[in-house]
Amino acid sequence: MTRIATILLILLGVLLLLQFYPKAPKNQSAQPTGYELEKTHAVPDPVLAILQYSCYDCHSNHTNYPWYSSLQPVSFWLNQHIEEGKDELNFSTFGSYSLRRQYHKLGEIAEQIEEDEMPLSSYTLIHRTARLNSTQKNMVSSWVTALRDSFQANYPVDSLKRKKRR
Ligand code: HEC
Repeated sequence: MTRIATILLILLGVLLLLQFYPKAPKNQSAQPTGYELEKTHAVPDPVLAILQYSCYDCHSNHTNYPWYSSLQPVSFWLNQHIEEGKDELNFSTFGSYSLRRQYHKLGEIAEQIEEDEMPLSSYTLIHRTARLNSTQKNMVSSWVTALRDSFQANYPVDSLKRKKRR
């Protein structure tokens, strides 16, 4: 056997063995939390549709898995993104965050979108249509601004300010 063939065979063997690595349970909860973004705040349908389409795979309890996601190491890698993404921001539990966290995350959402940081580029590489065009960006950012303004109008400033980290 040539060297290349041996290396390819070893790689194939490793890939096959990797398939035995346990997969994390799917991020597809049937149980509503009662704290979903759209249940706790007014979200215009088109804005909700954008968030659901471009963000919910990593920022909610409901991921749409592509077929290749059941293959390792893809499964492992996707799961990392989902875990990390939900840790930072979960639209399925958004209403359970403290006022200050909600207020802050709203600002981050507008910022991340504006700077093309989100959706993650590794994601839009495959999910090209998840990229936001400028109209969609404006829609999300106007909604964020209006919602943040309503927080400011309805809650004391101190409840929205970030606590100093010690
Ligand atoms: C492929 C998975 C994925 C998608 C899709 C995705 N995100 Fe994220 N997001 C992450 C991960 C992972 C993190 C945490 C690490 C980081 O900041 O890069 C994160 C972090 C964030 C944060 C937190 C930043 C902070 O510092 O508080 C915000 C806000 C955010 N994403 C918004 C969005 C929005 C809005 C969309 C849709 C337009 C979106 N994300 C789409 C994976 C994703």
